[in-house]
Amino acid sequence: MANDLNSLKWMFPEDKLKKINNLPTLPKTFNEILSQINKENTSVNKLEEIIIKDPLLTAKILRYVNSPIYAQAGPINNVKKAITVYGFNAMKTLVLGLSLNNILVTSFSNEFFSPKSFWHHSMGVAQACRYICEMLNEPAQEDFFTAGLLHDIGLLLMCMYFKEETDEIIKIKQAKDIDFNQAEDIYLLRIKHADLGVFIAKKWGLSDFHIKLIEYHHDPLKAGEYSYKVSILFFAEQICEKLGLGWNFKESNKILLPKYLPLDRKKIMRLIEIMKEEKNMLEEIWKISFES
Ligand SMILES: [Fe+2]
Ligand SMILES: [Fe+2]
Repeated sequence: MANDLNSLKWMFPEDKLKKINNLPTLPKTFNEILSQINKENTSVNKLEEIIIKDPLLTAKILRYVNSPIYAQAGPINNVKKAITVYGFNAMKTLVLGLSLNNILVTSFSNEFFSPKSFWHHSMGVAQACRYICEMLNEPAQEDFFTAGLLHDIGLLLMCMYFKEETDEIIKIKQAKDIDFNQAEDIYLLRIKHADLGVFIAKKWGLSDFHIKLIEYHHDPLKAGEYSYKVSILFFAEQICEKLGLGWNFKESNKILLPKYLPLDRKKIMRLIEIMKEEKNMLEEIWKISFES
């Protein structure tokens, strides 16, 4: 690391961040898919072109689509066939999910924030966002999906550059059995993980939509004109916590429904059922793609 982080220890977080010059970069494939995701002329060929430039990603995709969880009539031996068989959206999700893991090549400081827990939580929230959008007839599903994927990206910077502070916040969280976000309020670090998320989202050139959703993902009511949109992300996170797709994989017994979301009990129960299946699917993707 180019900087001596110990000498930065007593600086204010803002100053400390300014001096860090090796921030994680957004994986190239991930970035290219993001920029293609909402283009009207995106095609199977374009998606294939992006994927096959990355041999490791291609290998992981083929391993996954040929795994026993997908019983196919015959082997799938190229990316184009995988896209045709599984569909464009399913393949985009898989590609983003698999390349997200490339961001996680950082040293996590504790068992609470591991690449595995980060990946499961991010993918779970992303998928839940998509299903909530469907229920609400919200057209920008893909934007919400990526907001879900990246909403906690600030935690990566916490683990990388505020290791001691992160450990202290986790101790508070565990002692009081509260959310990480609430523990951050008690610890009074001047920058919270949502602010760090905004910092890196700007560095990566993400849209205002993504920046606002990251900034307010724990506070939808403070998000002004973005309150409704942030509420979708907030509720997706609530569902994931409920199912143990949160940071400590502990199931929560409460769900907070933001007042902006017109979802009745029946829809919420349906969402929970869908997400239980998603959780199993994510376990499988993780095992096949990252453990073997
Ligand atoms: Fe989260
Ligand atoms: Fe968060």
